[in-house]
Amino acid sequence: ADSVPDLSESLSAFRTKAPILKEFEKAPLGVVLGSGLGGLADAIESPTIVPYKEIPGLAASTASGHRGEFLIGSLASRPVIAMAGRLHVYEGHSLRDVTRPAALMAGLGISELVVSCAAGGLNPNFDVGDLVLLNEHSSWLDGKLGAPPISFQRSNVSANESAAATGCFRRSLSTCDPQLDAIAHQTAHTNGFELRRGMYLAVNGPNYETRAECRMMRQLGADLVGMSTVPELLCAASAGVRTLGISVVTNLALPDAPATADHADVLDVCEQAAERLQQIVRAIATHGA
Ligand code: 6GU
Repeated sequence: ADSVPDLSESLSAFRTKAPILKEFEKAPLGVVLGSGLGGLADAIESPTIVPYKEIPGLAASTASGHRGEFLIGSLASRPVIAMAGRLHVYEGHSLRDVTRPAALMAGLGISELVVSCAAGGLNPNFDVGDLVLLNEHSSWLDGKLGAPPISFQRSNVSANESAAATGCFRRSLSTCDPQLDAIAHQTAHTNGFELRRGMYLAVNGPNYETRAECRMMRQLGADLVGMSTVPELLCAASAGVRTLGISVVTNLALPDAPATADHADVLDVCEQAAERLQQIVRAIATHGA
């Protein structure tokens, strides 16, 4: 009962706007660049740029620090499709809209997806500027995911598939691929920086947490809190794509931390973390295929 174009319509529009896709000799790496992390986009060689708004079925991104376009090109000789900017539930988008770009990249044949984001650090051992690999997640995001079109599933295990339709309830997928995890840690080791691990809790926002919520979330075992990432990871993982989520700790979500974080400061921290993130993404581009 809605008029959202079919994913196949989005796919054919994308292929028309990015003819370079036909020349790729390997499955591309997909990358989602979160708040302030768009700098990595500049490292992509001879990119074809496709704004989300030119693709039927994709909503435009509005959050500041988010560009709202795909860049299709190469990184370390590997084809890549990068998303500079993403959609959030707090902007009023449904989970279906939020995951559409990831579903689209899966349909275009990416074999891995790295999803980056800014997050608040709940683990008292984390510092502002730390990179944290999301080894576990939980989602408190409102809404539900519809089943993705069968033709874009490369495995028959779909996290999005409705339990009602299949009569089978399944634990939500892990989205931390062991091989990508190993490449990321090896890269951190080689380049002499710390890469932490943690459980990411996805919430609607747009407010940051109250002091009480920070305490609660920590007691429940969350290391990070943020407003994104899990939907894209789950959507891609359910389509058989190997996935890895990485957060930059942009502020501390501790009971005694300041109640607000200035968006400009957040973007500043991301800029400093972007180089380390880029090293990881390059290594995955090189070794992941
Ligand atoms: Cl402290 N909370 C949430 N929900 N999202 C964030 C954040 C905090 N810091 C960056 N993103």
